[in-house]
Amino acid sequence: MSRSYLIVATVLLAARAAYAQDCSVNLEGNDLLQFNLKNIDISKACGEFTINLKHVGKQPRDVMGHNVVLAKTADMAGIDADAMKAGLASGYIKAGDARVIAHSKVVGGGESTALTFAVAKLSGAGPYSFFCSYPGHSATMKGTITLKP
Ligand code: CO
Repeated sequence: MSRSYLIVATVLLAARAAYAQDCSVNLEGNDLLQFNLKNIDISKACGEFTINLKHVGKQPRDVMGHNVVLAKTADMAGIDADAMKAGLASGYIKAGDARVIAHSKVVGGGESTALTFAVAKLSGAGPYSFFCSYPGHSATMKGTITLKP
């Protein structure tokens, strides 16, 4: 095995690691109705993108539940109003809500979940946002999606 081959292989592995990291993000929700991110950058080069949601608080999901919902910013209020009626048993998402591009389950303190979706779903007219659809949370638990090349 030549030295140049080893160098090329090492560079390729490093590039792959960087690519994988760019197609996911770690999002944290706490007991104070806060996400740790106000924006998530998503590269259009990613086939799929994953939001890893961790509830870093202590409150249970029926008191301080968090999920992450992806939608057009203009659809947030409507999704949120219907989510309240849907209730916790439905994960605070109206069944079959076509405005919801993707959503995770609701987690409580100390729990984690992951939301993976096809980036092609964000190819329409944005802008897009992410938010928590637990009643009353989206006022503060929301952020923008910035699509990158
Ligand atoms: Co929440």
